[in-house]
Amino acid sequence: MTRSFSLAVVPGDGIGPEVTAQALQVLNLVAADHDAAFSSTEYDLGAKRWHATGETLPDSVLEEIRGHDAILLGAVGDPSVPSGVLERGLLLKLRFALDHYVNLRPSKLFPGVPTPLANPGAIDFVVVREGTEGPYVGNGGAIRVGTPHELATEVSINTAYGVERVVRDAFARAQARPRKKLTLVHKNNVLVHAGHLWTRTVDAVATEFPDVAVDYLHVDAATIFLVTDPARFDVIVTDNLFGDILTDLAAAITGGIGLAASGNVNPDRTAPSMFEPVHGSAPDIAGQHKADPTAAILSGALLLEHLGLPEAAARISSAVEADIAERGAAPRSTEEVGGAIASRVAEGV
Ligand code: NAI
Ligand code: MG
Repeated sequence: MTRSFSLAVVPGDGIGPEVTAQALQVLNLVAADHDAAFSSTEYDLGAKRWHATGETLPDSVLEEIRGHDAILLGAVGDPSVPSGVLERGLLLKLRFALDHYVNLRPSKLFPGVPTPLANPGAIDFVVVREGTEGPYVGNGGAIRVGTPHELATEVSINTAYGVERVVRDAFARAQARPRKKLTLVHKNNVLVHAGHLWTRTVDAVATEFPDVAVDYLHVDAATIFLVTDPARFDVIVTDNLFGDILTDLAAAITGGIGLAASGNVNPDRTAPSMFEPVHGSAPDIAGQHKADPTAAILSGALLLEHLGLPEAAARISSAVEADIAERGAAPRSTEEVGGAIASRVAEGV
């Protein structure tokens, strides 16, 4: 019996529409072979809409999107729009309103991928970044703006409830992986209030997962180990800001931002989860057919996994892995890369 899923597609700005088209093509192909079908609704949100109407994410559109099984997003942000308008008003609004408290970012060094590291070892870890709290909640303000006496605050919010649910999710993911290791990354020697809440929570939840080994690193030390010994990591759990920064570094050591996929997951399934490449709208290469669609395609694999189609997801990952292994030095267009991966998916390679 064919399972039907409704997909809200937000291509967004810059290279967003270019890479999303490739991801959709691959998703539809693989779904057909796994007794699944997607019906997609496209939403024109982003810079063009903001210029035309002043809207970022109207409440009525948010409610429509909420009615879908999952969301596929390209990227948002454009130099013609003041910084923060779309990022806060569209992207963060979706993540917060749909309670995407697990921001999932796997990092794997595929065979054949050039890495800037001389001795990378076997890199295969996943960052579970908290997605709804921390300094990203907009709890701040500024007075005397533009004067020498300007004052600005950006308060980091950490609730026992919010920390516990993401930590629990990270432990469950660690338990399901062969190495069963969880590393908390924070800065509990300086950020003592939030840091101690995170540390105590990890210690408490750890008692429920006795087979998971627990490690702790300060965030500055974590950046060292991500470069000198990334193979030591299995599951990293961390707050919203540290996770944002560490996952760009993680993408850099595993072959670049064109390969890094992510999921904004609502594990309780009270709202659709959203899948998107880690990269942004790359205005410097938009419209030039140069963008690598691999990150968007791999985000589609995460989407399939979330919807309970692990075999279909694995088929995409293997097709990507095979394509990457045979990438030569000659540059390929967005469509060529997407097409090559799609053919491999179709052939089941
Ligand atoms: P970016 O990720 O868009 O670009 C950084 C660099 O990586 C650029 O040189 C770009 O050409 C390159 N790059 C990115 N994706 C690529 C791909 N698929 N293939 C090949 N090269 C790729 O980050 P940047 O420049 O900081 O931000 C541009 C805009 O995107 C800003 O408005 C920013 O706020 C927004 N942004 C949106 C995100 C999202 O929608 N989740 C995430 C990050 C940034
Ligand atoms: Mg980032």
